[in-house]
Amino acid sequence: MEILCIHGGRRLTGEWTVHNAKNAVLPIMAAAILTDGKTMLEDCPMLSDVGYMGDILCTLGCDVRREGRTLVIDPQGIVGYEMPDDLAKKIRSSIFLLGPILARFRKATVTFPGGCEIGLRPIDLHLGGLRQLGVTIHEEGGVIHCDGKHMKAGNVHFDYPSVGATENVMMAAVLLRGRTVLHNVAREPEIVDLQAFLNRMGANVQGAGTHTITVEGVRRLGGVSYTPMPDRIVAGTMMAAAAITGGSVLLRNVPVEDMQAVFSKLREMDCVITEKERSVTLHAPERLRAFAQLQTQPHPGFPTDMQAQLLALSTLATGTSVLVENVFENRFGHAGDLNRMGANVLVNGRTAVVQGVERLYGTRVVARDLRGGAALTLAGLKARGETIVEQAQLIDRGYEHLETALASLGAEIRREHILSDT
Ligand code: UD1
Repeated sequence: MEILCIHGGRRLTGEWTVHNAKNAVLPIMAAAILTDGKTMLEDCPMLSDVGYMGDILCTLGCDVRREGRTLVIDPQGIVGYEMPDDLAKKIRSSIFLLGPILARFRKATVTFPGGCEIGLRPIDLHLGGLRQLGVTIHEEGGVIHCDGKHMKAGNVHFDYPSVGATENVMMAAVLLRGRTVLHNVAREPEIVDLQAFLNRMGANVQGAGTHTITVEGVRRLGGVSYTPMPDRIVAGTMMAAAAITGGSVLLRNVPVEDMQAVFSKLREMDCVITEKERSVTLHAPERLRAFAQLQTQPHPGFPTDMQAQLLALSTLATGTSVLVENVFENRFGHAGDLNRMGANVLVNGRTAVVQGVERLYGTRVVARDLRGGAALTLAGLKARGETIVEQAQLIDRGYEHLETALASLGAEIRREHILSDT
């Protein structure tokens, strides 16, 4: 098990460059099998989820390797259309491969995917979208068999704007003859990035970032080199880290236009934020002020992936903050650990009410999911004494060496690898 040991109390100051986005890279890696050409993903972050996705592609027969910070995917040798069970269980994004595998082989076999334990996370919207493209699906003992013999372009309507389902169906449609129109799609910036990647490959996809996406099918796609967008959640987490310590940071490689909901909440907490084209500075007050209410929503609303970090901030703010988690039904796993550090958080279903306290105290806490683990790390930066965050390997799914980044801004934090009792 990996642990992070943090001595709280240091103000974070300095400059840092944000790495590119996990949630852009993963669907793009899946899209790479839509061609026989090589994909070069430039400046691809070193994250465990990227590693797992690479392993799945290798198991299917692709050649995936790193050349420095470039990830090279050569799908020429791909033979499999059956997703490996053990790997798929490790990473929910394995489900992204369903659309591209169907586009390529007209059949696919997958097991229910895994990922962070933050709710039920069913895949009905993915399967429903594919069915609307003519895919026949039957499930047997947790294994999903998809037959795409009769796939054809057409209209797809989503009951809810799921990020993954939007991306999956987009990828399934790019090689179908004719026009596919996806209605009520998710509008996350990573979907816009996937559209840009697909179009660079030779696809014809328009409308990402709005409620409707139109795909004009093309005959073939080619291998390209592409730099994914910066990670807005990593940028937001580092801003929150500076904010909780009363610090002051300049971050580079920031998708500022996609982060307005987060900036707005941090400003409500009395942080001074200055935006430039691709960078941002944050100056935090001595003590943060509580925000009235934070509601997570699909983009451009407040991102659920920043909820845990803002909850950590609110534990030390003056006043009462209310957070409502509308996207996932079980995403307050970090609240109990924050309370063990001295916070006053009351969770009732999808709502958390936080009464700000003067001080948190370091103790042993457990990362239960990726963002919750980041939130506990932030709390540790301000807590008195030593905080130990167990299961820090979950944080590595989405942050490239979070501890190194924080230490470079002045935090007292180190990683240790310990053998568990079992
Ligand atoms: C993506 C992001 C994740 C982020 C989430 C919401 C990636 C790799 N992950 O996850 O970091 O937290 O968007 O912004 O991009 N749902 C269903 N049925 C489905 C699919 C989803 O009910 O078939 C539900 C989910 O359980 C959840 C909600 O819809 O409650 C949102 O999920 P979705 O937008 O699909 O998120 P992901 O694509 O899994």
